[in-house]
Amino acid sequence: MLAGGSGTRLRPITYTSAKQLLPVANKPVLFYGLEAIRDSGITEVGIVVGDTAPEIQRVVGDGSAFGLDVTYIRQDAPLGLAHAILVSRGYLGDDDFVMYLGDNFIVGGITPFTRQFHRDRPAAQIMLTRVPDPRAFGVVELDAAGRVAGLEEKPEHPKSDLALVGVYLFTPAIHDAVATLKPSWRNELEITDAIQWLVDTGHEVSSAVISGYWKDTGNVDDMLEVNRLVLEGLEPRGTVDDSCEVIGRVVVEEGAIVTGSRIVGPVIVGRGTRVTGSYLGPFTSIAENCVIADSEIEYSIVLRGASIRGVRRIEASLIGHEADVTLAPKVPNAHRLVLGDHSRVQISS
Ligand code: G1P
Repeated sequence: MLAGGSGTRLRPITYTSAKQLLPVANKPVLFYGLEAIRDSGITEVGIVVGDTAPEIQRVVGDGSAFGLDVTYIRQDAPLGLAHAILVSRGYLGDDDFVMYLGDNFIVGGITPFTRQFHRDRPAAQIMLTRVPDPRAFGVVELDAAGRVAGLEEKPEHPKSDLALVGVYLFTPAIHDAVATLKPSWRNELEITDAIQWLVDTGHEVSSAVISGYWKDTGNVDDMLEVNRLVLEGLEPRGTVDDSCEVIGRVVVEEGAIVTGSRIVGPVIVGRGTRVTGSYLGPFTSIAENCVIADSEIEYSIVLRGASIRGVRRIEASLIGHEADVTLAPKVPNAHRLVLGDHSRVQISS
């Protein structure tokens, strides 16, 4: 399980938090992956960690809460997916393994995929999906017989619209491939190059095109979209008081207080959060210990401890831990901002 990297596309949130711990429906994205791994019958997980190691270790611990036996493997710098395999060499030994990118989100888990691998045991098995703009991904070209012919990392002129999904299955043959690699143009040891080496040296590389839902949650738009999808499956629970109007699927976690508000689900409100005199619109996740007062918010993710007071209206936003969004004083009529480095703000007037 890869949980390093710097998360540049999610700055400034990732200056202080691991991207893999950003919540989807109030649960870290990484947890969905760990659960998918557990559900496939795998019990031993090595988590490759970088600078955010302490934070990841704090929330995942020894893995027993997931029914997993977790070992942490240190990657000193984000030098690529194949580099993560290199630093895990001792841990992996000569076992077959799954490599799962901790910011990837796949609906339906990986069990069909691991079963197929057990049955056929190719040197590598990759998962592909059609994407509108393949330039942001590893891209795979298949030959007429549907075999993997070539792989390219983030090509300027993609040869197909088939992107590599961030779940790979390998036999130990991958270690021979990794040993041959040189850093790419982005100074990383690319897993695409390692798989290309397997193809070139006559190893079997099988692929499956998945039609189910997949996203790499590396940017805000994708985070919001995955959040929307997971919220759609919410089972309503919890209570609000009589002064509220609730429509659709709404989860109010224990210890959250919601009064005088209109909530149109799917929405989740975390533990210890107070919502008063506000509108919470569809596809909104409010984490724990937040304050939402006299405000309107929709299609957004609000992280732990944030407060939003007197603001209408917030949409398609990701609001960081302990952030404070309030109405500016009327005089002077101006926006007053204290923004972290690389913050992005869109003002509506
Ligand atoms: C990585 C891989 C790429 C793959 C993608 C899936 O990209 O290099 O081949 O398509 O994950 O999420 P990165 O996250 O390094 O941009």
